[in-house]
Amino acid sequence: MLKTIVIGACGQIGTELVLKLREIKGAENVIAADLKVDCPEVLKGGPYCKMDILDETLVREYIIENEIKEVYLLAALLSATAEKNPDFAWKLNMEGLFTILNLAKEKHIDKIFWPSSIAVFGPTTPRDNTPQYTVMEPSTVYGISKLAGERWCEYYHAKFDVDVRSIRYPGLISYTSLPGGGTTDYAVDIFYQAKLNVPYVCYLKEDTSLPMMFMEDAIRATIELMDAPKAAVKIRSAYNLSGCSFTPKELASEINNYIPDFKISYAPDFRQAIADSWPKSIDDSAARKDWGWKENYSTSELVKVMIENVNTDLLK
Ligand code: SER
Repeated sequence: MLKTIVIGACGQIGTELVLKLREIKGAENVIAADLKVDCPEVLKGGPYCKMDILDETLVREYIIENEIKEVYLLAALLSATAEKNPDFAWKLNMEGLFTILNLAKEKHIDKIFWPSSIAVFGPTTPRDNTPQYTVMEPSTVYGISKLAGERWCEYYHAKFDVDVRSIRYPGLISYTSLPGGGTTDYAVDIFYQAKLNVPYVCYLKEDTSLPMMFMEDAIRATIELMDAPKAAVKIRSAYNLSGCSFTPKELASEINNYIPDFKISYAPDFRQAIADSWPKSIDDSAARKDWGWKENYSTSELVKVMIENVNTDLLK
């Protein structure tokens, strides 16, 4: 079995991706790598490596020496955090990608997954049912880095036949690990507050609609895209991907079906402008056509599973 590494394994996507890949490929074949010195409990079932993606020498040596053939590069600063630290966000989000793309160009790696985001779109993009190909003028550091990254992925594929695959993830909703630093994080935080029986103060306005997806769907999409035959993957920038869309008010009302006393209020901050620059819903017909994508979770299904599974001990 070929060796796989997930860099940024302790993050919201990484944790669940490692667990799923270990189930499929065998725990010993999937290395979790992250900045954290100690391996978190949930990832202890397989190999762990402390890795700083900005340490190019170490990353190169580790991947070459361990004959790792598949890389999932998830280490990044998300939209809200990146606005507070633009220089570092640009460095982290771009340099790590080049290190991995170059390893593939030199034929050390066979296949790369690198996530893009709905943040590649901007205020001049059509916001409803946003097409795969459209105006893209992102107004956030994170969005600029993801759009630049997409262009480089396509370039490395065209010029050097690098097999890199990518998805423009919407906001991701999960209960295994917490999100960090994104504009869509409210849609996870809200469940913890609801379960703690405390009112939630939302940093977005009640009618802010954003594309969202349950993590199980996102992980399945990622693995399906990586398993698709090379020729089927026609888009080498990143695929639009849609799950569901909702506003904070709609989400709170779904939660009220389970916790009738739950209350939400609104105090928009700097993240409102970011959300206002992003699509409300996404046209993902290319992903459906090229590699057979179909989501499983609607908003109400996602809310049901979150209410059943969110464990507030994770906040400790
Ligand atoms: N969830 C991400 C964010 O809010 C979007 O990719 O930054």
